[in-house]
Amino acid sequence: MKSIFVTGGAGFIGSHTCLLLLEKGHIVFILDSFINSSEKSITQISIILKDKGIDTNGKIYLCKGDINNLEDIEKVFQMSIELNKEIESVIHFAGLKSVFESVINPLIYWDTNVGGTINLLKTMKKFKCRNIVFSSSATVYKSKLKSELNENDVCVPVNPYGDTKLTIEKFLKDTYKSSPNEWRIACLRYFNPVGAHESGLIGEDPLGRADNLYPRITKVASGKIDSIKIFGSDWPTKDGTCIRDYIHVMDVAEGHLYALNYLIKEKPQFLTLNLGTGKGTSVLELIRNFEKINNVRIPFIFDERRLGDNAYVVADNSYAKSILNWIPQRTLNDICRDGWNWQLKNPNGFSV
Ligand SMILES: NC(=O)c1ccc[n+]([C@@H]2O[C@H](COP(=O)([O-])OP(=O)(O)OC[C@H]3O[C@@H](n4cnc5c(N)ncnc54)[C@H](O)[C@@H]3O)[C@@H](O)[C@H]2O)c1
Repeated sequence: MKSIFVTGGAGFIGSHTCLLLLEKGHIVFILDSFINSSEKSITQISIILKDKGIDTNGKIYLCKGDINNLEDIEKVFQMSIELNKEIESVIHFAGLKSVFESVINPLIYWDTNVGGTINLLKTMKKFKCRNIVFSSSATVYKSKLKSELNENDVCVPVNPYGDTKLTIEKFLKDTYKSSPNEWRIACLRYFNPVGAHESGLIGEDPLGRADNLYPRITKVASGKIDSIKIFGSDWPTKDGTCIRDYIHVMDVAEGHLYALNYLIKEKPQFLTLNLGTGKGTSVLELIRNFEKINNVRIPFIFDERRLGDNAYVVADNSYAKSILNWIPQRTLNDICRDGWNWQLKNPNGFSV
C-alpha cells in the first residue's frame, strides 16, 4: 500500500480521514504544528483501530512541524524515502480556519494558508510527488438566495479566509496547467463538516475561539456555555434562521478516499468538487433535532444578523456523487448523536 502525507492530520477532519486511510491499509505521514489540535487524536486512532484488529505499528509517522517552514515539510518526504515508504500523494488539511480571526489578522491567514501551500507544492515538486487533495471551502462561493451551489457558480469570497482558499485553488490550477500530464489535483469544497466518529474517541476540539455553531451547541448542552446566539431571525427562510448543509465528518473523510482513488486511477487532471449532502437544515432545526435525539436542552437567544452571512448555503453535490461514486451515508440524527457522544465521553476534548 502507498504512503500518504497528511498535513494537519491531527485536526478535526484530518484525524477522521487518517483513521480511514489506515483502515484501508495505507501508511500515513502526518505533519502538524498542533496549533489547533492534540497529538492525542492520533493515539486515539490507534486505539480505535486496535479494537478492529488493526495494528498501526510502522503505519503512522507523526511529525511536529509547520508548513510555513519548508524544512519541516522536506524532512517528512526525506523520512519516507529513508524508510522505503515513499510518499505517493498528499492530503492537505493544514491551515487556519476561523472566518472571524481572518478578518482581525489577515496576515497570518495569508501567510499560513497560502504561504504554507506554496511551501508544500515546492517540496512536492522537488520530491516528484504530483498528487494532492486540498481542503477548500464553500466560503469561496458568491451566495445565491435559494438554489444549491454548483462548482461552476461564481466565486466571490467575502472574508480573508475564503479569499485564501480561492487563491490556493487558483494557484493549484496554474500548477496543474504548467504540467497537465503530471499533476493530479482535487480541490474539495466542504460545506459544514460536523459530528464525530461513532466510537466517540475522536471529534472536534477547537483550541481557541469556537466560532462554528455545532461545537457551540455541544458546549451549551454540556453546560460549558449558557446559551447559543442565533444571528438573525428574519432571514428569507421557512423559520427565519440561516440554512446550512451539515455533513457528517465521516462522510467528508470518505469523500477524500474516493477523491484520492479517483485521481490515482484516472488520467492527470484538476478537479473541483463540492462535499455536502445537498440538504439544507436551518439553525433552529439543527438545535431542535439535537435536543430531541439527545434529550437535552439548548437555550438560545436571537441576535442581529452578522455581516457577510447568507440565508442559504447548500451544496449541489451531484458532480461529486456522479464521478466519485461517493454518497454521504449519515443522517442529521447520526450527526447529533455522534457529536454528543464525543462531547459526553470527552468533556474537555483531548485535554485531561
Ligand atoms: N471544519 C470546517 O468547517 C471546514 C470547512 C471548510 C474547509 N475546512 C478546511 O479543512 C481543513 C481542516 O479543517 P479542520 O476543521 O479539520 O480544522 P482543524 O483546525 O481541526 O485542523 C487543521 C489542522 O492543521 C494544523 N495546522 C494549522 N496551521 C498549521 C501549520 N502552519 N503547520 C502545520 N499544521 C498546521 C492544526 O493544528 C490542525 O491540526 C482546513 O484547511 C479548513 O480550512 C474546514
